[in-house]
Amino acid sequence: MKRCAIAVAFLVVAAASAADLLTPAEKRGREIYLHGQGAARPITAFFGSDDAGEISASVVPCASCHGPDGRGVPEGTVAPSDVRWSVLTKPFFSSDGGRRRPRYDAGLLARAVREAVDAAGTPLFAVMPRYRIDDRDLDDLVAYLRRLGNEPQPGLDDAAIVVGTVVPLTGPRAPAGEAVRSVISGYFDDINAEGGLFGRRLKVEAIDAATAAKKIAGGQFFGVVGVSSDDSSLDDIVSAERIPLVTPFATALESRSAVSSFFIFSDLESQALALLDFAAEREGKRALRVAIVHDGGKLADAAATVAARHCNSLGWTVGKRDAEILLAIGSVDVPAVAATVKTPQILIAGASVTKSLFELRGKTVFVAAPTLPGDISDEGRGEIESFAMRHHLSPEHHAAEISAYAAVKVFVEALRRGGRDVTREKVIASLEHLYGFATGVTPAITYGPNRHIGTVGAYVVGIDFDRRTFSPASRWITPAE
Ligand code: HEC
Repeated sequence: MKRCAIAVAFLVVAAASAADLLTPAEKRGREIYLHGQGAARPITAFFGSDDAGEISASVVPCASCHGPDGRGVPEGTVAPSDVRWSVLTKPFFSSDGGRRRPRYDAGLLARAVREAVDAAGTPLFAVMPRYRIDDRDLDDLVAYLRRLGNEPQPGLDDAAIVVGTVVPLTGPRAPAGEAVRSVISGYFDDINAEGGLFGRRLKVEAIDAATAAKKIAGGQFFGVVGVSSDDSSLDDIVSAERIPLVTPFATALESRSAVSSFFIFSDLESQALALLDFAAEREGKRALRVAIVHDGGKLADAAATVAARHCNSLGWTVGKRDAEILLAIGSVDVPAVAATVKTPQILIAGASVTKSLFELRGKTVFVAAPTLPGDISDEGRGEIESFAMRHHLSPEHHAAEISAYAAVKVFVEALRRGGRDVTREKVIASLEHLYGFATGVTPAITYGPNRHIGTVGAYVVGIDFDRRTFSPASRWITPAE
């Protein structure tokens, strides 16, 4: 009898967690709600009865007015309704007696979307658009709206928020992984010592890069901070589940477009473009030949394509052979390439700045730097020094620690702005509103709905071969493109 009760309890728990995850239809509905993007057919919107001004629903997705959490974002005198299912399924009477409507059901909600009338059939204010939407997309949208305000929030309860960090836990890079983990746990410890965030404790769990995709898909983490893995299936999961992720560098091509991933430092593409803009400034209006080489990786390949396009727009020709400028993108063995391509000037994006670059003596060499020591403000230096002391950080992994510090600081800021009723969508929305946020240890971080790289551009650094040093050759360059 007792065993039976335990079995039943187990079943109930299992059923609850399965019901928690969004179905594929609900996920498609979420894309419509958040981005106006239907799976069946493009969705359009118009206001009032005037369908002459029909526009794409992606310009006016539901979330732009009703908020990522459905509670409504008031703007001026307009107050978009709270459209959480729990609210829509209650009848409504306005206090001045002017307005009343019965509770919504799926059919009435579908009608509201297409005709902008409420559940009583009363026309809504013309601010609420009318949507031209395929039946299948509308079914998906309604399926999602029934979950809105009650979506699964794995890793979050009243007592704690659990965050993952993906690092190598074995092998030669394990010590660097451990350094990143200690930065995040140290940062969380400091917050927990002050009572946590809205009464919740912050916890971090290190996930080995080898098993990360499976573990994160298992849904135990509210968010992810710091990823050191080139497994692109990880990106697929993060974006499909819309898990907020903040990490120093974009690691896979997919992650650049992943809608819930945010990066601290500029990627290869904007580094390459910053270098080209720097060269254009130096060379005046001269027509140049540029040779572009890259490391063969997907990110570098994509960056090379954009860089070539940028050269063309500057009126320069692009090839693989002898040229006035050689642009190397990614982890390229630059001295080896320089031995085969004849060129007086070399631009380097994304290569690690090591002593081997001094072998390029005789050439003019410029390297893109996503950050310089000067980005650490006086306040930031004090902060990171006492942090390092308090949490016994090892000086050996200083660069990785600084990056992790910036990432966890940005993530916690977004959590804080999400408030007590934080959800994943609120964290993503808070990140997209971050503007000029000072981490103290990097350039200021700015994101936007279409900009998930916090610091677009680069410094350009030159090499002084006599003194065997690197020295800044430019201020921060934000590429024009
Ligand atoms: C441009 C802003 C805007 C967009 C975009 C928008 N709405 Fe609205 N919506 C409103 C406003 C404002 C109201 C309140 C109108 C009123 O009070 O008459 C409203 C009302 C509603 C209502 C009625 C709620 C009630 O209590 O009767 C529903 C349902 C609704 N919207 C759903 C949606 C859905 C679903 C989408 C996306 C497909 C959407 N809205 C897109 C502004 C918007």
